[in-house]
Amino acid sequence: MTALELSSPVAVVGTGTMGQGIAQVALLAGHPVRLYDAVEGQARTAAAAIGARLERLVEKGRLTAGDRAAAGDRLAPVDSLAELAGCGLVIEAIVEQLPVKQRLFEELEEIVDEDCLLATNTSSLSVTAIAGTLKKPGRFVGLHFFNPAPLLPLVEVVSGFASDETAATRAYETARAWGKTPVRSADTPGFIVNRIARPFYAEALRLHEERAADPATIDAVLRESGGFKMGPFELTDLIGQDVNEAVTRSVWESFFQDPKFTPSLAQRRLVESRRLGRKSGQGWYAYGDDASRVGP
Ligand code: NAI
Repeated sequence: MTALELSSPVAVVGTGTMGQGIAQVALLAGHPVRLYDAVEGQARTAAAAIGARLERLVEKGRLTAGDRAAAGDRLAPVDSLAELAGCGLVIEAIVEQLPVKQRLFEELEEIVDEDCLLATNTSSLSVTAIAGTLKKPGRFVGLHFFNPAPLLPLVEVVSGFASDETAATRAYETARAWGKTPVRSADTPGFIVNRIARPFYAEALRLHEERAADPATIDAVLRESGGFKMGPFELTDLIGQDVNEAVTRSVWESFFQDPKFTPSLAQRRLVESRRLGRKSGQGWYAYGDDASRVGP
């Protein structure tokens, strides 16, 4: 089973942080890419943001002006799901809510061709459950990129209960052809990385709640002596506190509320106050003009 042909269009549904990054990867690999988002104007905004990022790559000498122009010509924001007919792969990166994802794929199933691969970028929902309402769930897999998708090589290729082996292999080979380092995983809560990362965040949050050390100290210790690129607090500010908390909650619920995965009250307060991290200008740390202030 080979990778998706380069002439085959890739659709990205949900063009926020992850959708934009994934679209950039598929685009630079050589595919035509179509962008769709439920919020009016968002797919165009995303296309402009991707264009600006490609321009920066040209300025840094990592992309030729010709390749940048050709990539721009292959990128198309669209206004309706119906315009995704004819795509060879649809990757979904919308809100992390099971019924919303299920509804989207039920609609897509009626639009795309029989041989179109359907993939979700979910961090924590069950791939099996997302595909559970589909008529033909065999071609459905998880294709889990990490943030920022253009930079981080790892992609988890997740087989749900009903995923065909051919679909998973095709997704794996496609990720490899895109220059990524794919790894196969069964459909288990948190897959591989998010599962292992839960105790990393949880223990850091507990240390902070016990006033053993503050976030800046814990981050610095892990960065400077632990061999980590980022500490848990700055990393969750990058991921988004809401996204990170949702993953913890989902893994906790999937394991029948195993106390090992109990979500953190301190993180809950952060999300409730919309201190979501870099994207909202404040999380554990403040960003922008207020950069000197440290969060709660
Ligand atoms: P985001 O909030 O930045 O973007 C989500 C986009 O989806 C928004 O533009 C929104 O308008 C759109 N959307 C929502 N419902 C839609 C629908 N029904 N149809 C079409 N578009 C819709 O979210 P982000 O961070 O990009 O996450 C997206 C997915 O990727 C989630 O499943 C998340 O768990 C997963 N993920 C997130 C990572 C992260 O670090 N942020 C890492 C890996 C996976």
